[in-house]
Amino acid sequence: MIEIAIDGTAASGKGTLGKKLSDKYSFPYLDTGMLYRKVAHELIKNNKVNTTGLEKTSCHYAMILNLKELKNKNLRTEDVSKLASKIATFQNLRKILNNKQKEFNNSNKKKFGGCILDGRDIGTTILPNADFKFFITASLEVRAKRRLLEKNISFLHENDEKCMLQTFMNNMKERDRLDSNRKISPLVPAKDAYVIDTTSINSEELLSQVVDIIERKK
Ligand code: CDP
Repeated sequence: MIEIAIDGTAASGKGTLGKKLSDKYSFPYLDTGMLYRKVAHELIKNNKVNTTGLEKTSCHYAMILNLKELKNKNLRTEDVSKLASKIATFQNLRKILNNKQKEFNNSNKKKFGGCILDGRDIGTTILPNADFKFFITASLEVRAKRRLLEKNISFLHENDEKCMLQTFMNNMKERDRLDSNRKISPLVPAKDAYVIDTTSINSEELLSQVVDIIERKK
């Protein structure tokens, strides 16, 4: 049974890598950021963001979270991203979501012979004994450009595009700061992770580097 842990910064290419590896090896794949996004989205939808007891309410939504209900495009808005990074600092919330991620891994790896998880703390906390650990990163500007492209917005003026790019860069920098500096499960490469910078490579080149590593050691 093979466990593959992928961690890294926002828009570094880790999600695309997870999906491509899942297609190649037919192992189930979980984008664990979607769990934090789902809780953040529920808080926004139910007007609970500025109420007291945010951690307790987050835990409530985490407990009733169904992994089959993560395919909503509203989960990828900038507001949801920001709130997801904020609530990801809550210890009790992480405990609940960690259990769901471990359950997903345990049941699927038995059934399919392997499992792939991507996130921020997979190689360090969720799957510390993973067979393969990858830490994916890229420059802030390249990552913000990728995020902007994903949104598929058509701009009337070049300045509007520049302004939006700057906003994306600021938001991402702040999320990286929160993720890397929090006390519990911060975003850091596991000691035994392969660190890959995708600033100047595309998703196919990344896949090929990762597959080479897996095939050599398998
Ligand atoms: O897609 P992107 O990389 O922008 O973010 P994501 O993977 O969907 O994760 C959203 C947020 O959830 C991150 O900024 C983290 O704060 C949090 N997260 C986490 O703390 N631990 C994980 N395993 C996955 C996500």
